[in-house]
Amino acid sequence: MKAIEISGLGKTYKGRKGTRIQALKGLSLDIMQGEVFGFLGPNGAGKSTTIKALMGLIRPTAGDALILGERITSCTARRNVGYLPENPSFYDYLTAEEYLTFVAKSFDVKGNLLEQRVAESLKLMELWEARKRPIRSYSKGMVQRVGLAQVLVHAPEVFILDEPMSGLDPLGRALVKEIILDLKKRGKCVFFSTHITDDVEKVCDRVGVIVSGQLQALDSVENILRSGLEGYCVQIRSGVKRLDVFDGFEVLRTHDPFVEYMVPAARFNEFMALVGHHSAEVMFVETRRKDLEAFFLEIVEKGEA
Ligand SMILES: Nc1ncnc2c1ncn2[C@@H]1O[C@H](COP(=O)(O)OP(=O)(O)OP(=O)(O)O)[C@@H](O)[C@H]1O
Ligand SMILES: [Mg+2]
Repeated sequence: MKAIEISGLGKTYKGRKGTRIQALKGLSLDIMQGEVFGFLGPNGAGKSTTIKALMGLIRPTAGDALILGERITSCTARRNVGYLPENPSFYDYLTAEEYLTFVAKSFDVKGNLLEQRVAESLKLMELWEARKRPIRSYSKGMVQRVGLAQVLVHAPEVFILDEPMSGLDPLGRALVKEIILDLKKRGKCVFFSTHITDDVEKVCDRVGVIVSGQLQALDSVENILRSGLEGYCVQIRSGVKRLDVFDGFEVLRTHDPFVEYMVPAARFNEFMALVGHHSAEVMFVETRRKDLEAFFLEIVEKGEA
């Protein structure tokens, strides 16, 4: 089942003095229920514009954006969606506990379940100790955590998160990754934007890269990493009589009696045959691949060219 359907989405903002900013140029994308999707793009690429169109907060100038088959204009459609805005701001005279209770009530969560969900979300986001303090006394990272807690409190099916790791320390980011993986285990769909590739590599099934309002790449993380394979770093013990048999391979490091070679993927078998033939001893083999960061930078450069 499709959780998110974006078809031919276009958005032109009216700028000052009659100028026009074409933020989205015919974006099409389907995300399935149960999928974790990373929406990558540099600043100003159109990530938040896409997300706001999905949430019905701006009106697209072309195309359509649906969640679970519906436009998010009605309360019933909104009930199935958890949304974290880019820069969450709350009624900051409320405490986190009061705010989450208010959010849960507005989604019709009642009675014991309400208390339970509020407590669970506060504990999960490590806000339990601070729950009785007004949000205005919170640090930036704590406010972001309230944003994430209010997404979880009504237990929706689809999660739309605009830069969920923004403003969090490494522990907070690890926590958000864990939560996303847990949501995936429970069959939920998570669509989140980021410009940090490291956040995507560990948790996403698929990644889309948007540059200047257009989708420039769309693939599974597995495929991207596989296609980025450059070769192997192989360390051997140089007990071999004639080390010059490996002369055609780049030496990465020597620290007697070990030598590390860079072996291109296409020449791996040839290298190992030489190792066997000359009775060298392999100490370790390490995969060398372009990471998502390199992939992302290449796509962005191409897209902006
Ligand atoms: N309300 C607006 N009025 C005019 N232009 C806008 C408006 N909102 C966004 N834009 C423009 O649309 C483009 C896309 O902006 P958007 O906020 O979607 O980018 P983003 O990918 O979310 O960037 P970031 O990583 O910085 O959050 C930018 O050029 C931005 O200046
Ligand atoms: Mg944004």
